[in-house]
Amino acid sequence: MGFTKRIVVTGGAGFIGSHVVRRLVNRFPDYQIINVDALTYAGNLENLTDVEGKPNYRFEKLDICDMEGLKQLFQQYEVSDVIHLAAESHVDRSILDPLAFIQTNVVGTAALLNTAREAWIDGFEGHRFYHVSTDEVYGSLGDEGFFTEETPYDPKSPYSASKASSDHLVRAFGHTYGLPVVISNCSNNYGPNQFPEKLLPLFISNIVERKALPVYGKGENVRDWLYVEDHAEAIDLIFHQGRLQETYNIGGENEWSNIDLIQLLCATMDEKLERSAGDSAQLITYVTDRAGHDFRYAIDCSKLKDELGWSPSRQFEQGLAETIDWYLSNQEWVNRVRSGSYQDYYEQQYAGR
Ligand code: NAD
Ligand code: DAU
Repeated sequence: MGFTKRIVVTGGAGFIGSHVVRRLVNRFPDYQIINVDALTYAGNLENLTDVEGKPNYRFEKLDICDMEGLKQLFQQYEVSDVIHLAAESHVDRSILDPLAFIQTNVVGTAALLNTAREAWIDGFEGHRFYHVSTDEVYGSLGDEGFFTEETPYDPKSPYSASKASSDHLVRAFGHTYGLPVVISNCSNNYGPNQFPEKLLPLFISNIVERKALPVYGKGENVRDWLYVEDHAEAIDLIFHQGRLQETYNIGGENEWSNIDLIQLLCATMDEKLERSAGDSAQLITYVTDRAGHDFRYAIDCSKLKDELGWSPSRQFEQGLAETIDWYLSNQEWVNRVRSGSYQDYYEQQYAGR
């Protein structure tokens, strides 16, 4: 079958990537979706068992830093487009091991950009390189204000600095070579399939197991939460309709301080697990703050709403309840991804806290 587009989605075995791959495979049978993932600790092909037999889906195990492998991949599939999500994505890990973040997020993105530039050298028309990034590149807000697309970059952690570097590289390839690029910067995602080192899935598991809930600092830091399928929808829209060489902010318009969010989570879990009210909240334990912990992220996503008609669809309490249900019904998934290297990391991260 001749496909109208042959799209490489990097990081498709991860949390957000798996939702993007599923959406594109199911919505666009005339596109071939090539999931390129190195299957690090965070990549899990179990996330995609429902689409793995589809004729328009392929998986290729490949490190995005492997330039020879990328070149062959682009030749083999005659890749028309890239949606780039592969990254080291956890801030705490970036504090423990910053160089792994420079390698994948900076060197890997440069390798991918250069491979696309060389593969498409005969004409960029009809091609697109879409880079998926984070609101953390803008730094940290105080009590007031929002990040817009014009907010100057001010990354504060090795993770956000590596993502900011990758954004700069993408823009530089767009500016210097005319590579057709587009970037989006999104706020905190939540939903099924998130690796249980991030706040919500970690705390859901700990509540089930009656383990301490390690709240960094005073729990006053603020995040803007977006349901992962709303992010996947925004990526679909920006890929198809976003203006080239532009940036779009994506956010949930849904700010919560960590402690308020954790209290809501505890109350909802008490109901679902038929525990007495206040039971889970007793697990809350204040621990040493994250080094350099950004205080607040809040996104102004009016450009995306006005230009492309997107808006977040999930009401938060509803999305959170569905997310909890997913983790409670998929305890086997949680147990499997928590085995192996994750256990070592968990000990290193929380020892002495
Ligand atoms: P994740 O950690 O769940 O998944 C990352 C995926 O990338 C994994 O499947 C992993 O195996 C793969 N990967 C890592 N290094 C690789 C390499 N060198 N080569 C090939 N594959 C590699 O991440 P996520 O939370 O799904 O985030 C996906 C993207 O979205 C990232 O670029 C992240 O910066 C961005 N983002 C995430 C959030 C969020 O809240 N999770 C918000 C905004 C933006
Ligand atoms: O804003 C987008 C970013 O959101 C993405 O770019 C990152 O990939 C993603 O990991 C996320 O970063 P955060 O650092 O905000 O997410 P995390 O789930 O690690 O933490 C959310 C908040 O909860 C943060 O303020 C730190 C706090 N926290 C986290 C953990 C894991 C705790 O208090 N205790 C914990 O054990």
